[in-house]
Amino acid sequence: MHEHHLHSLLIHIMKYFYNIFVLWILLVTLDKCLTTEGLGVNWGTRASHPLPPDIVVKLLKENGFNKVKLFEADPGVLKALGRSGVQVMVGIPNDLLAPLSASVRNAEQWVQQNVSSFISKNGVDIRYVAVGNEPFLKDYKDTFVNTTYPALQNVQAALIKAGLGRQVKVTVPINADVYETDTGVPSGGNFRSDIHGLMMKIVKFLSDNGGPLTINIYPFLSLYADPHFPIDFAFFSGTSSPVVDGSISYTNVFEANYDTLVWALEKNGFGSLPIIVGEIGWPTDGDSNANIEYAKKFNQGLLDRISRGIGTPKRPTPPDIYLFGLVDEDTKSIQPGNFERHWGVFYYDGAIKYQLNLGNNQSLKAAKGVRYLARKWCVMAPNANVMDPNLPDSINYACSYADCTSLGYGSSCGGLDVKSNASYAFNMYYQTMNQQKGSCERFHNLSVITTIDPSPSSSNFGRTSSNCRFEIMIDVGRHETRVNPGTSSATKIKHFSLVLLVLVFMLHY
Ligand SMILES: *[C@@H]1O[C@H](CO)[C@@H](O)[C@H](O)[C@H]1NC(C)=O
Ligand SMILES: *[C@@H]1O[C@H](CO)[C@@H](O)[C@H](O)[C@H]1NC(C)=O
Ligand SMILES: *[C@@H]1O[C@H](CO)[C@@H](O)[C@H](O)[C@H]1NC(C)=O
Ligand SMILES: *[C@@H]1O[C@H](CO)[C@@H](O)[C@H](O)[C@H]1NC(C)=O
Ligand SMILES: *[C@@H]1O[C@H](CO)[C@@H](O)[C@H](O)[C@H]1NC(C)=O
Repeated sequence: MHEHHLHSLLIHIMKYFYNIFVLWILLVTLDKCLTTEGLGVNWGTRASHPLPPDIVVKLLKENGFNKVKLFEADPGVLKALGRSGVQVMVGIPNDLLAPLSASVRNAEQWVQQNVSSFISKNGVDIRYVAVGNEPFLKDYKDTFVNTTYPALQNVQAALIKAGLGRQVKVTVPINADVYETDTGVPSGGNFRSDIHGLMMKIVKFLSDNGGPLTINIYPFLSLYADPHFPIDFAFFSGTSSPVVDGSISYTNVFEANYDTLVWALEKNGFGSLPIIVGEIGWPTDGDSNANIEYAKKFNQGLLDRISRGIGTPKRPTPPDIYLFGLVDEDTKSIQPGNFERHWGVFYYDGAIKYQLNLGNNQSLKAAKGVRYLARKWCVMAPNANVMDPNLPDSINYACSYADCTSLGYGSSCGGLDVKSNASYAFNMYYQTMNQQKGSCERFHNLSVITTIDPSPSSSNFGRTSSNCRFEIMIDVGRHETRVNPGTSSATKIKHFSLVLLVLVFMLHY
């Protein structure tokens, strides 16, 4: 009798744990099904007329970008990301490295103001802090070589002090020029000799603290820097002249570059350090190789790799990848080249440049609810003379305040005649000045306002000019920002299923 009781009690307990186990398995499976594989993107905000952050967050979610990388802790951007389900990497600009390296106290303040408060008050899912942005780029000389590592240590200490040591990891986004190969193939990879010791300290620190190394890889820049670069090696569709490294044949520069880093890490004892690809993409304008055809080819090839979950020959586990970038930024420095303002998968206003299959045949969806200025353009007056001596000055004036990078040789508006060229410049100025009264009158009576879209129609032009758009800017003065507090449908389904399962579980008893 006594024994029988004990027996049935044991069976009950076992049943209980079995049910909990089944419930857990169901929830884990459900979670896997409802959260699609991670797709990351960089959200840069160097624009004269940035999209409102709430519209951008909806754009991210609609297109399945569940990870975003920011270059600074912009409060408006972070607030909009609150409770969105999007994971965030917050960047620390290079000019903050010196103060953050100077004292832990500064780092604590930075973490408090730019990380902790957004996590606790706004529910922002911050996963990484990126300390600096390509601080060892050769172009920067040695400006940041003494401050990056101490800043990294101080930020890590501050995160631990804030109780975020487990939740938020540090990383350093580095340019691919921190490593090189002296044999010309990936297996010869090692860190640049002038910063080898420094990279070792950083890599060891990241390894000790569970942080990944972040690298930016730009096949477009390989092509831009070297006109003899084999163009098919930049893409993912095979090449007639692969780079042969022992038993491995590399058919694209992305894999070759990435594996050069893996070799460099392995050679120095950190062969399993996690790597994130922090920036990768292709610009659509500002250079003859920066066009929609190539950008689509490159990004689609990359997305196909991501959805197939493939890594590289040397490291088969696929890295997390952040596309560069989300939208065009018309106030970025063009010191690297005119293409610098045209890296967006979307135009500045969230309009689609070209279609992409994001996996599962999901296509890109444009931003919704964007408010524009009036449908008005400033163009060269019909009766104005192209030989007018004031014309060059007027164009220069317009282009010194507005973005004229689409007018260059080989760019989307590079094929315009002189008159349309001037019109483009005048209009960019007019739009950048928010169509303000008088802003179309700065050009020595050579300009006039029109309500007829002056964009050249694609049928009139060759390939390079068919994408020439006479833009109307975003209305940044009087847009409505209605933040939709509703949870996503996936989250709702998840919550509903959880309740259902718990009910079933309780009824069972
Ligand atoms: C971050 O925190 C610092 C205080 O340490 C503050 O000065 C700064 O403006 C904040 N925001 C950004 C974007 O860094
Ligand atoms: C970095 O530190 C070294 C050694 O203290 C010093 O010689 C060098 O000038 C410093 N570089 C910069 C850019 O501050
Ligand atoms: C995607 O669409 C193509 C053509 O419409 C179809 O052949 C393919 O099976 C689809 N793939 C998926 C995963 O739905
Ligand atoms: C158009 O304007 C740009 C910017 O001022 C200039 O570089 C280019 O040479 C011009 N092209 C023509 C055809 O006038
Ligand atoms: C523009 O034209 C008006 C008259 O048509 C003239 O009074 C004015 O001086 C002109 N302005 C410039 C900058 O040429």
